[in-house]
This record gives sequence, C-alpha cells and structure tokens, in this order.
Amino acid sequence: MPFEQLFRHISPEEISGDVFTLVSKIFPVITAGNVNHYNSMTGSGGGMGVLFKKPATWSVLRSDRYTLELIQKEQRYTMSYFPEEYRKQIMFLGSKSGRDSDKMKEVELTGIQTPSGNMTFEEARLIVECKLVQITTPLLDDFYTQEAINWLKDTYKQASDIRKYVFGEITNAWIKK
Ligand SMILES: Cc1cc2nc3c(=O)[nH]c(=O)nc-3n(C[C@H](O)[C@H](O)[C@H](O)COP(=O)(O)O)c2cc1C
Repeated sequence: MPFEQLFRHISPEEISGDVFTLVSKIFPVITAGNVNHYNSMTGSGGGMGVLFKKPATWSVLRSDRYTLELIQKEQRYTMSYFPEEYRKQIMFLGSKSGRDSDKMKEVELTGIQTPSGNMTFEEARLIVECKLVQITTPLLDDFYTQEAINWLKDTYKQASDIRKYVFGEITNAWIKK
C-alpha cells in the first residue's frame, strides 16, 4: 500500500505520548540505509528536544552497531515506534547484528520507503525521520557523577564499547491513519 495511504504527516509538536515512555518503554526501532540495503536496531536511550532551534532527537549508540555505520554513510535515518503487539519483532531487531546476520530478511515486519526515501515499516504507529547533525564521543572527563564515572570505567574496555551520542534533526513525522 502506498506510504501516504497508511500514514498522515504531522508536525513534531503533534507527537503524542510522553518522551520517557516512547524512549524507554515503547523503544524506538532505528533504521538506516536505503531501499536496496537497510538495517534496524532497537534503542532505549536518548530523547527528543530542540537543538540549534530545530526539533531534534538524540540516541545513545554503541560504536560497533551496524545501524550506526549506515547512519554515518547515509546521514539520515528513521525512528519508528510500534504498537505493543510488535514487541517480539522489536526485541528481535535488538538481539543480533545485521553486520553478521540476515535479520532484516527474517524479521516479521514490512519495510516501506517514506516519500523522502528513508526506510521504515508499515506496522509502525509513529515514524520520526531524522537528518544526522552530530555524533559525539563522550570522554571520561565530561562526567561529574561518581556513578557515571564508575559505569564508564567498567563498561568502556575497548573502542567498540563506547556509546556515541547521535543527534538528528527531525525532518518529518508521521502517524498511522
Ligand atoms: C530493548 C532494547 C534496547 C536497546 N537499546 C540500545 C541502545 O539504546 N543503544 C545501543 O547501542 N544498543 C541498544 N540495544 C542493542 C541493539 O539493538 C542490538 O545490539 C542490535 O542487535 C544492534 O544491531 P545492529 O548491529 O544490526 O545495528 C537495545 C536492545 C534492546 C532489545
């Protein structure tokens, strides 16, 4: 079915629901690539707000995520939020890497292109399209709470463990009709 028959364009201000539930209970599926090759992962950190006077999202992505590689390549991506009934698929996308598996062929979701060419899924209820603005690598010296410093020391053993902070400008938002 054509994208615009399934989804209605909304402004970022019309995104409903609180951001805490969206980020850490519903979980965004982050998708990057193009119609010929795309990849998705599940996220649980980050948020939405305003960056350089523009509506924006931020995500916390481990350096070795294949999706992050594709975000850097294409410099755009989607964040898709699903109804509860798709929890199994969301967890599946967060369980193995597309770098060394065929998870995008296996996942029981239907890929669809937005009018601007980003990839998302027909089953999503909310889609946020993002343009990559910034990827920041946090340094130990940037942190002030002992809890955060301890966590970083325990977790960041090698370069691939580092969580990058990824900021995207919201270019479009869509809601299921
Ligand atoms: C509920 C859930 C939340 C997750 N949140 C994050 C996250 O915020 N950042 C991250 O880097 N990985 C997160 N992951 C792990 C990735 O989704 C997972 O490693 C995924 O397989 C990466 O896929 P990729 O290498 O194909 O991009 C989460 C996984 C699950 C199941």
